[in-house]
Amino acid sequence: MTTYKLAVAGGGSTYTPGIIRSLMDRLEDLPLSEIRFYDIDGERQSKVVVAAKAVIAEYTDTIQVVETTDPKTAFEDVDFVFAQMRVGKYAMRELDEKIPLSHNVVGQETCGPGGLAYGLRTIFPMVELVDYVDQYAKKNAWIVNYSNPASIVAEGVRKLRPNARILNICDMPVATMRNMAAILGVNREDLVVDYFGLNHFGWFTKVEVNGVDRLSELREHVYQHGLLTEDVSKIDYRHADSSWIKTFKNIKLIMDHFPEYLPNPYLQYYLFPDYIVETSNKEYTRANEVMDGREKTLFETVRKYEETGILEDAFAVGVHGTFIVDVTISLAQNLGRRYLVMLENNGTIPNLPADAMIEVPALITSNGPIPEYVGEIPYFYKAMIDQQLASEKILVEAITEGSYIKALQAFTLNKTIPSAKVAKAVLDDLIEANKEYWPTLA
Ligand code: NAD
Ligand code: LMR
Repeated sequence: MTTYKLAVAGGGSTYTPGIIRSLMDRLEDLPLSEIRFYDIDGERQSKVVVAAKAVIAEYTDTIQVVETTDPKTAFEDVDFVFAQMRVGKYAMRELDEKIPLSHNVVGQETCGPGGLAYGLRTIFPMVELVDYVDQYAKKNAWIVNYSNPASIVAEGVRKLRPNARILNICDMPVATMRNMAAILGVNREDLVVDYFGLNHFGWFTKVEVNGVDRLSELREHVYQHGLLTEDVSKIDYRHADSSWIKTFKNIKLIMDHFPEYLPNPYLQYYLFPDYIVETSNKEYTRANEVMDGREKTLFETVRKYEETGILEDAFAVGVHGTFIVDVTISLAQNLGRRYLVMLENNGTIPNLPADAMIEVPALITSNGPIPEYVGEIPYFYKAMIDQQLASEKILVEAITEGSYIKALQAFTLNKTIPSAKVAKAVLDDLIEANKEYWPTLA
């Protein structure tokens, strides 16, 4: 039996215990001999690994567990790397959200100026990770990447390390499908969807179950309730937080204006930035909600487990944990299963640039994703995507060239920012806040 060695980069992530449970649930499909946890913050990681080990112990005692801050120890000879790093951690996420809001601009982790700021922090550490994996891991090793902002990370790595074996994925499309399935009363796995766009910037154009169209039914539901069931407990606990409930309700707002397709929830930030700012609490953002919720619960659970030996949070898997393991099994076993992932366009959507990193359905094989042909997309969606793509591509040029003007162009082109004047004010504040992380922009 083939067994695999897997490394988790960003081992100190709040998602680690849930992802480990998902791996343990699927050991028959993805047998593991070793799991290595790697993080630049060894102290944080150590606490999270206590929880991860407790989860592993519920299933097996045959997997060797290593925790390290040394890249060679982490990646030598591994088959898979799950990347989930948050460069600057929650302290910087909070600033990404609050600085733009102080200028009455959307303050969000991956969308708008906050996303651009997070991108400028993350590209070089991701390239460094790709180089570590190239240097130490098995020749055919895959990085499966969840690290945000995924669109910008995908573009940065495409540009700087074009031959990297990295598959960029996001749980938002599957989370959206989880809600669709709960509304329709079917299993998520039974939905067949078509989708096109960029990461956090796309649309479902088809939703079928057993060959029958269900998009019209969803549309009717969304007109009443947004993309939510009455029983919110049917969705993962992460997305049961009040900010996410609001986001799924806002699908109604989007579809009241544009009923054609079912949007990725993150489109609310680009289509209704004024409304989002008006309804945001500038003093208490999603970063605060996560620090007071998921992060606090995790560290409390670990503390109590160390005191009592009882693991109070079972770390339910949810779509986040399920999806990365599903995709990896398809990579490992060459199953060719169909998932929505990011990949280089190369004609999949002929009226978008060939070198755009798009998010579309693809068959996942051991050699990577094979996209399904999408065809030309209508002008409205193309125009929106072209603008967003330009913002992200110019941002990557800004960091590789160290160019302030290009950073300003990227901010100005972002649809969440009303003018070049505001773009400059927000950028200048973010430069100050990110001194420790960004290269000099001159
Ligand atoms: P977290 O802050 O709890 O954990 C991230 C960890 O990354 C921290 O322990 C930190 O020390 C570590 N880290 C930072 N820089 C690193 C580097 N250069 N090398 C190795 N480790 C590094 O964050 P979280 O909320 O658990 O999220 C983890 C990541 O997953 C984030 O990038 C987040 O945006 C992303 N995420 C993606 C999706 C998706 O579907 N794409 C969904 C949720 C979260
Ligand atoms: C998170 O921290 O959970 C995110 O990465 C996405 C969200 O829920 O804000």
